[in-house]
Amino acid sequence: MKYLLNSREMKACDTGTIEYFGVLSAVLMERAALSVIEELENIKLEFQTCLVVCGSGNNGGDGFAIARLLYLKGYDVCILFYGSEEKATEETRRQIGIVKKYKIPIVSELPKESYDLVIDSLFGIGLARNLEGRYYELILQLNQMTGVKMAVDIPSGINADNGQIMGTAFRADVTVTFGFAKIGQILYPGAQYTGRLAVKDIGIDTYGFLGSFPKVKTLGQEDLRMVPRRPKDGNKGTFGKILIMAGSIDMAGAGVLSARAAYAAGGGLVRIFTPKENRTIMQTLVPEAVLTTYDTRADETEKIISCLDWADVIVLGPGIGTGVFSKKMTETVLKYTEKTCIVDADALNLMAENKDILNTTGADLIITPHLGEMSRLAGMTVAEIKEDLLGTARKFSETYHIITVIKDVRTITVLKDGTAYLNQSGNSGMAVAGSGDVLTGVIAALAAQGCPPRIAAPLGVYIHGLSGDLKKSEKGEYGLLASDLTEGVSLVLKEGIK
Ligand code: ACO
Repeated sequence: MKYLLNSREMKACDTGTIEYFGVLSAVLMERAALSVIEELENIKLEFQTCLVVCGSGNNGGDGFAIARLLYLKGYDVCILFYGSEEKATEETRRQIGIVKKYKIPIVSELPKESYDLVIDSLFGIGLARNLEGRYYELILQLNQMTGVKMAVDIPSGINADNGQIMGTAFRADVTVTFGFAKIGQILYPGAQYTGRLAVKDIGIDTYGFLGSFPKVKTLGQEDLRMVPRRPKDGNKGTFGKILIMAGSIDMAGAGVLSARAAYAAGGGLVRIFTPKENRTIMQTLVPEAVLTTYDTRADETEKIISCLDWADVIVLGPGIGTGVFSKKMTETVLKYTEKTCIVDADALNLMAENKDILNTTGADLIITPHLGEMSRLAGMTVAEIKEDLLGTARKFSETYHIITVIKDVRTITVLKDGTAYLNQSGNSGMAVAGSGDVLTGVIAALAAQGCPPRIAAPLGVYIHGLSGDLKKSEKGEYGLLASDLTEGVSLVLKEGIK
C-alpha cells in the first residue's frame, strides 16, 4: 500500500524535511537531479543532444542541476530558461549561478534545432493556475518537437491533485517524480501525459507532515497478503454465505457472473435470488449455487427477509431491472438488513430515484457505480464528475456514510472516513458487459471470508483488475469476456498468495 500525494502534502513533506530535519534543500535538489540521470541510464536512452526547459521555481532549479550533470557527462546540453533570475527562488538562483560558471548555453527563446531529448522542468507541483500566453505557446511547441520527452516531477500543466490539464500540458514519455507518486499522475488525463512513471526516493520524509486529512493510497502486489488465509479445517460456512440478488427475466447472465466470481474469489456458499423464470438457466450455469426464486407478481417480502437472515454478505442489483418488483426488493433489503451489502447496477438506478433510502438504511453499504450510475446518483453530469472524480466520490461517501467505488479507467474507492484508493490494475479489455457483475462477486467473497468492507472494496477492485491483466496477457485486450475475469480471479489468488 503506497501513498499518493497531492501538492499540499508534497510541499509539506518537502518543507518539513528541509526545515524540521534540517536536510539542506541543495542536497534534495542534487539528489533529485541525480535520480533523473539514474533513470536515463535505467532506460538506456541513447542520446547526445538535450534541451532542458527551466522555470523560475524550484522545479526549474532541479532542471538546472540536471543540465549541469548531463553537461559534465559530455552531452550537448542547452538550457531554455523561461523565467527570470530576479523571480527565481534562492535555490534556483544558486543552480543558475553554477551553470553560468560552467558556461552551459542558456537561451530565452525556443531554439529551432531538434534535440534527442527534451526535459520539461518548467513547472512542478507549484503550478497554481492555468498555463497562458507564452507558457501555453511554449508547451504546444515542445509537444511538437521530435525526441524523447521527459518530465521532471510532473509534466508542466498537469494538476497534481486531480490529473486535469491546466490550459495545456507537456506530453511526457517518461516522468521522474520524487518521493511519492502524485494523485494527478495516476488519474486521467494526467496519467496519459505522465507516460511511464519512475518514483525516486531522494530522502523526502512524510514523518508527521501529512496531517490528519484523509489520505489517498494505491494497492500493489504485496497487498494481496490482506486476502484472508483459508484455515485448513474450514468448511463452507467458514468461507461465508453470499446472497446474490440478481438477474431478471431477460438478464440472467449478470447473476451468473456475480455468483461465479464469488466462488472464484473463495466464497463458501452462494445463494442466488432471482425470478422463477431463471431457474433452469441458473441451475445449469451455476450448479454450485443454491437458488431461491421469486414471482415478480407476488409479495415476496418474507422470502427476501429470510434470505437476508441467511446471508453473511449481500450483493444487490446486477441485472435486476428497474421494474416494480425490483424497486420493492431494493427498498426491502435496505430497510431490513444491517449486513454488508454491495449495491450495483439497477439497484443504484433505483436508489437514485429515492436517495432518502440512503439516509435511513442500516445496511453497511458498498456502492459500485460506473460513471453513468454515479451521474444519476449524484445529480451531476458525467463531465462534471470526471472533472473531480475523487472529490465527487468523497462527497458521496461523506454524505451517506457509505463506501463508494466509482468504476472508471482508474477505479476510485472512497471509505467512510474519506480515505481513498486509486486502482492501477486493469486494462481497457475489461470495459465490457458483465465486468462490473464480476466485481460485485469478488468484493462479496472477500467480505464473506472476513475482510472488513474497508479492505474488501479496494482489494476486490485491485484483484479484479489483476485478473483482467492476467487474461489480457493470454488473450489480448480485444475479446476479453467477463467470464474470463472469473477464471482470472482464481489464478490471481493462486499466484498472489503464497
Ligand atoms: N504561469 C506562470 N507561473 C506560474 C504558474 C502559471 N500558470 N503557476 C505557478 N507559477 C509560478 C508560481 O507562481 C511559482 O513562482 P513564485 O514562487 O514566484 O510564486 C512557481 O511557478 C512555482 O513553480 P514550481 O517550480 O512548480 O514550484 P516550487 O517552487 O514549489 O517547486 C518542487 C516544486 C518543490 C521542486 C517540487 O516539484 C518537488 O518536490 N521537487 C522534488 C524535490 C526538490 O527538488 N525539492 C526542492 C528542494 S528546494 C526547496 O524546496 C526550497
